[in-house]
Amino acid sequence: RAIMDESVSLQREFWIMNPPKKRILTGVRPTGPLHLGHYVGALENWLKLQREYECFFLIADYQALGDYVDDTQRIRNSVVEVALDWLAVGLDPEENSFVIQSYIPEHAELTMLLSMLISLNRLQRNPTLKKEMADLGEVKGQKGNSSEPVTKFIEASDKVTVGFFNYPVSQAADILLPQGNLVPVGEDQLPHIELTREIASRFNRIYGHTFPLPEALKGRVPRLVGTDGSEKMSKSRGNVIQLKDDSETVRQAVMRMFTDPTRKTATDPGHVEGNPVFEYHDLFNPNTAEVSELKDRYVKGQVGDVEVKQKLVVAINNFLNPIREKRAYFEARPNLVR
Ligand code: TRP
Repeated sequence: RAIMDESVSLQREFWIMNPPKKRILTGVRPTGPLHLGHYVGALENWLKLQREYECFFLIADYQALGDYVDDTQRIRNSVVEVALDWLAVGLDPEENSFVIQSYIPEHAELTMLLSMLISLNRLQRNPTLKKEMADLGEVKGQKGNSSEPVTKFIEASDKVTVGFFNYPVSQAADILLPQGNLVPVGEDQLPHIELTREIASRFNRIYGHTFPLPEALKGRVPRLVGTDGSEKMSKSRGNVIQLKDDSETVRQAVMRMFTDPTRKTATDPGHVEGNPVFEYHDLFNPNTAEVSELKDRYVKGQVGDVEVKQKLVVAINNFLNPIREKRAYFEARPNLVR
């Protein structure tokens, strides 16, 4: 038995140190169902990558506690929502791994160990963390300004928990635990990858080579504008179209969308650039001839917003239909999903 165990553990060590394919680790905080921004910013890319690499798709429920420590039911529900959305768009848990962070307690253990390898000051210089902490400060009624030293906000806001503050280290643990080589993420996550590399180098220097230094992979669309034209589609701003929305919900959201604010009537020449409705057409309407014809008439003042939007409703619903179908299949089989 001892010999068997040793050979298994040697095999395992070999597998860990020499994975057959490059590894990808990426993930999301389960705070609600996913939306079109997640699709173009991440999922679309993951669908391609999952065929080429060995992928670990992480549902980071520990990390979501940083946002909803007082609403764990929301996190629990969202773990399932995210899994359904992933299955619905075609991520494949047979060829790759879906990981629920809290099911692998080593994520927490490694977070604790790695937190010994980074200084408080270094963590405070992480621009994404700074911005998020400033936002938390704002929630409390303080004026958030991400250019001010973050320590101000620690003092200013008792909303920032130690656990939240430490989440970039936990994210480093997420990436290093499966020895990820590549991390496909949005722009805002780049500082976390940089931090992960620093922590990994420091670990390797002290304890010998253990972790590969991961690299970030950026997606096609860094961030999708919201239906209200604001810089980012996000649930908290109420400007989202969810992957699971039905066709009527999509119709209403699109018909309410912001367009060119300078245009009063359909005969005014309109602007296509920076116009959210056309941005969505470019991303979700595969009929490029229709889109360029619409743009052409729009700048000449020969088409109304209503027609442009109606065509967008059709395009987005066509895009979402196969996703809805697959989602319904899995929703009807909760045990399979579990
Ligand atoms: N921070 C990511 C988000 O906000 C989620 C996440 C957790 C993650 N761990 C990760 C992303 C590791 C990439 C790699 O959704």
